[in-house]
Amino acid sequence: MSICYGNFPRGLVSVLLVMGASMSIAEAGDQAEKYGGENRGKPVQPSQVNAKFQQECSSCHIGYSPGLLPAASWRKVMGGLDKHFGSDASLTDQENKEITTFLVNNASNRWRAPTAPLRITETAWFKRKHNSHEIPPTVWKNPKVKSPANCAACHQQAERGDFNENNIKIPK
Ligand code: HEC
Ligand code: HEC
Repeated sequence: MSICYGNFPRGLVSVLLVMGASMSIAEAGDQAEKYGGENRGKPVQPSQVNAKFQQECSSCHIGYSPGLLPAASWRKVMGGLDKHFGSDASLTDQENKEITTFLVNNASNRWRAPTAPLRITETAWFKRKHNSHEIPPTVWKNPKVKSPANCAACHQQAERGDFNENNIKIPK
């Protein structure tokens, strides 16, 4: 074993690990219900990178983590790149295929709703997390924020798929 658990008896460690895993699945379920079945998936893992995606999908905005939307959404987004939110973001068939596979394979694993929104920012869970109680309406008018889709304006590690509360700084 490469990980050192100090003096914990091996059996106890596995029990704790199993408990930890099942609790987080239950929590994920509660969260998903609260947001009508919509929820982002696991935070991006260091292994979840794709050079083509970085190159083609992070020039106009940050590369949105695949876990932020369900697979059906990514298929829709990738199927309409010629009319992409008022921009033409078309790719060659081969590039499109590679990026779609990457996004679909790493899509949200907590999405139970039958919805496949094109925007992260239009989902119920996004609106709940970013309601006027959390963020005063004036913040959205700040030119440093511009759009709710500009995640990196507030989430300092957004590019890395990290939306942890400790890494949020609302621009003044
Ligand atoms: C030519 C510029 C451009 C490129 C390249 C581009 N996008 Fe976008 N994308 C946009 C614009 C503009 C918006 C709308 C931003 C806003 O509302 O502030 C957008 C929005 C999005 C949104 C919705 C954000 C929200 O509101 O939740 C997703 C998802 C997205 N893009 C995915 C992609 C993916 C995947 C790629 C790579 C295949 C890509 N984009 C490449 C311009 C681009
Ligand atoms: C104007 C600033 C701002 C922008 C822009 C913004 N967020 Fe947030 N976000 C926040 C704040 C503040 C919270 C904390 C809410 C809370 O305390 O529960 C939050 C919470 C979150 C959470 C929940 C974190 C957790 O641990 O519960 C996620 C996930 C998230 N945002 C993703 C995004 C994504 C994805 C985008 C872009 C598409 C985005 N945010 C854009 C300010 C912002």
